[in-house]
Amino acid sequence: MPDMKIEMERIRREPLPRRTAADIQERVSGLMARMTLPEKIGQMFQTTHWSGIVTGPEYDTHQTLEKVRKGKIGSFQGLTDNQVIYQLQKIAVEETRLGIPLLFCLDIIHGCRTTFPTNLAMSCSWNPELVRKSISVVAAESAHSGVNLTFSPMLDLVRDPRWGRVMESNGEDACLSSAFAEAYVRGYQQDNLSGYDTVACCAKHYVGYGAVEAGREYNAVDLSERVLRNHYLPPFAAAIKAGVKMVMTSFNTLFDIPVTANEPVLRGMLRGDLKFRGVTVSDYSSSAEIKCHKIATDDETVAVKCLKAGLDVEMMSNSYINHLEAAVAKGRIPATLIEEACARILTLKYELGLFDNPYKNIYADPEQNFQNSKYRVQAFETACESAVLLKNDAVLPLGTDRKIALIGPFSDSKDVIGAWGGKADWNATVTLKEAFEDAGLPFIHERGSNVYDGLDATAATRAAAAADIVVLAVGEPGNLSGEAASRTCLDLPGVQNELFTAVLAAKKPVVVVIFSGRPLTIGDWIEKTQATLWAWQLGTESGHALCALLTGARNPSGKLTMTFPRSVGQIPLYYNFLPTGRPYMPENPTEMFRTHYVDLPNEPLFPFGFGRGYSPFVYGAMKTDKEILKPGDAVTVSVDVFNAGTYDGAETVQLYIEAECFSVARPVNELKKFAKRKIKAGHSETFTFSLDSDDFAFWNADMVFISEPGRYQIKVGPSSAELQMTVIVLSLTT
Ligand code: GLC
Repeated sequence: MPDMKIEMERIRREPLPRRTAADIQERVSGLMARMTLPEKIGQMFQTTHWSGIVTGPEYDTHQTLEKVRKGKIGSFQGLTDNQVIYQLQKIAVEETRLGIPLLFCLDIIHGCRTTFPTNLAMSCSWNPELVRKSISVVAAESAHSGVNLTFSPMLDLVRDPRWGRVMESNGEDACLSSAFAEAYVRGYQQDNLSGYDTVACCAKHYVGYGAVEAGREYNAVDLSERVLRNHYLPPFAAAIKAGVKMVMTSFNTLFDIPVTANEPVLRGMLRGDLKFRGVTVSDYSSSAEIKCHKIATDDETVAVKCLKAGLDVEMMSNSYINHLEAAVAKGRIPATLIEEACARILTLKYELGLFDNPYKNIYADPEQNFQNSKYRVQAFETACESAVLLKNDAVLPLGTDRKIALIGPFSDSKDVIGAWGGKADWNATVTLKEAFEDAGLPFIHERGSNVYDGLDATAATRAAAAADIVVLAVGEPGNLSGEAASRTCLDLPGVQNELFTAVLAAKKPVVVVIFSGRPLTIGDWIEKTQATLWAWQLGTESGHALCALLTGARNPSGKLTMTFPRSVGQIPLYYNFLPTGRPYMPENPTEMFRTHYVDLPNEPLFPFGFGRGYSPFVYGAMKTDKEILKPGDAVTVSVDVFNAGTYDGAETVQLYIEAECFSVARPVNELKKFAKRKIKAGHSETFTFSLDSDDFAFWNADMVFISEPGRYQIKVGPSSAELQMTVIVLSLTT
């Protein structure tokens, strides 16, 4: 094989023309006119290169090189080696009849080499602008390592932490997830797709995958159309409005039809209602899996049903490439649907500049683009804003006047990347112990146990007893969340509870730092200790961020975007539930004939929007500029927030509405606006929100999206469960 590295080093990177839509459409039409039907179908097939190395035919187990040569492959996913990418692109450009470049896709969802917190963690920053900046770093590193398009953002709304993929989501609320959807798309794509620091991106998994029954991975989904439209579709609508270029169909059924072959959900809702004009791609073999869903018995029918439903690109299964031509010949599917799909794929390749420079994202030495100190600073700041302080009984921040015992399996662990870690450099990841050393803190270190074994209770108790305060670092290993990682029990795994008992025996104040991909049921740990910092999986700068938060160099500002249940038995548990005919009375939690459990209160361990810092924020009286809102008008809501502490901090004020009486039952609270602002110690900031009549629209009893006349309570506060009681009743008039 020629030394590709030398050729790759010679790749030229002049600024690429920013082609207009009309110019691109003309070029696509011209190219399509020269393409055969098999070549058009070839664009609709996405696979991987199984050998994963630069090879000749002798290793090419799936004849991939030959398929590229014959124009039978349009895109690849899962390739991380730039030389392999270069080899394949060179064949496509130089050895095929029309030289159509390939598109290379990869799952880079919260970091390429510099790893940011998991997406659920980043959503706890309540700071879309921060996330947009972080994702622009992810885009730059991805664009310099062979990636043209990333399979991100994941926009599944989640209400069930048994499902391992909650760690990829933006939490349980549509309003917040929609704000982050826009931030991700703008961060990846920015405003110049043909640039050298941007990548196209893909909203996934369309739609409803986060609602798998019982939180069991790949299970069926049963949602009403109203719940789908009120809660699960809005983040995709926001991504489409922000210009996302691809949407990935989900594994699950919806209305009992697999989404990948569901015409009402794809051509009806996605293309019709949401006006998506980009490319649809199936999730990994989800097209072929409709046979397992028992709505097809053979691959030609798979191809016909999926294309008819609106699937453009088939990922990792072969029904399109093997059967579409025959299906057209038999009259089972019109060739026009292939033409439309192929045109969308070619348009994306033109928008990316791949026809002008097919090698634009391929660098001989991508490493040189990764070691960028600015990127680590961004990762550090994002990690600081993503962790959530859940409890602090005046033991934090840590001072240098108290000796610390740092204990636990996560005290010196690099397992802080989380699932879908891209090309993370685990060695570059900073552990909590390393950060304590960098900060010169007075501490002793005793691991005390591994996650699953190696418990040395005596050593743990002894270390705790020898210190003034304990920092106990525990958690859920990264491989226990992510795809195919549903859990029926959300306790801390292994011997960590025994370690906890050993540490408590020393009767010293304990700060628990918990690493996880998802909410866990750790009520006992909270009650028996003095402080809890939820560390999620914060990525490359995890240790430095946690140390800064624990010592007060940074003031915690994160707030939960997923409800924490007390027990798995409460799940699904989320803040915006319906009131029921026998509403729960918190003041009388065991009143018999009301919606409740006999063995636990309904309340979660921690509610949506909850988080603490080192500065108590005092809310003034909320004001509005009107109490009657006419259609087309807007109401201004304002509230003063005072930082009564000695630490400068940041507060996220949340504005909720509560519907009083409408044509359908409405959630007891609905987040409509939020804002995060820095507030200096001893100072006050005025938060002002504007609500217009469209903010009150919902899918009503007639399935019309409308703002019905009626009355609402408007509430502001630091979380969904701490809302000002001086609410304003707002009457919408017709
Ligand atoms: C996986 C995931 C999806 C990912 C795709 C390609 O099964 O469901 O999120 O983008 O396959 O890796």
